[in-house]
Amino acid sequence: MLLVQVILASTRGGRFSERAGRWVLERLETRGDMEIELIDLRDYPLPFFDAAPPARTLRDYPSAEVARFGRTIDRADGFVIVTPEYNHGYSAVLKNAIDHTFVEWRHKPVTFVGWGNVGGARAIEQLRLVTVELEMAPLRHAVHILPDVLVPALRAEEFDPSMLDALTPRLTTMADDLLWWATALQVARASES
Ligand SMILES: Cc1cc2nc3c(=O)[nH]c(=O)nc-3n(C[C@H](O)[C@H](O)[C@H](O)COP(=O)(O)O)c2cc1C
Repeated sequence: MLLVQVILASTRGGRFSERAGRWVLERLETRGDMEIELIDLRDYPLPFFDAAPPARTLRDYPSAEVARFGRTIDRADGFVIVTPEYNHGYSAVLKNAIDHTFVEWRHKPVTFVGWGNVGGARAIEQLRLVTVELEMAPLRHAVHILPDVLVPALRAEEFDPSMLDALTPRLTTMADDLLWWATALQVARASES
């Protein structure tokens, strides 16, 4: 089965991304047509990037912690980046993690779940531009959690993933698209080697 990694792109205390990530994970697992793995950037603490360009060094990792992150990303066939929007951009912790790697993302599809005043649209648009540089296939279909759904889910003392279920049809479209691209690109990658 294809492996899809759901990446939590916020590491701050009290983060909403944990709630969004739980919803994404549970709903994708229920489909049963992809293997789903949660990647929490809190579990991959990395120094600020200051090494040689990974586009040149490839899998010649400068440290064990970068190797651990790189080898994790390498395993996946596709990604869902669960992203906050900070000052109209995506998080620094995600950019730092991306800059430590390169070839591990290559020729794989990526889609996004974002939230905020405009559903994280500005962060997601930036990520589409950046992931093209990694030779990824950023997808059209994404999930934007707008304030009408976001605020009750953000404020709830007891979060239940069903609080985001108004967006499940969007998530389904996104996941169908991701599976199509992941399947096609897995075949294409296999023919390269
Ligand atoms: C530093 C910072 C900047 C923010 N900038 C934006 C923004 O530009 N647009 C937006 O919609 N929300 C913005 N917010 C509010 C976030 O959408 C909200 O805090 C959300 O919970 C962040 O995701 P997280 O909790 O997973 O970190 C910002 C929050 C922080 C902490």
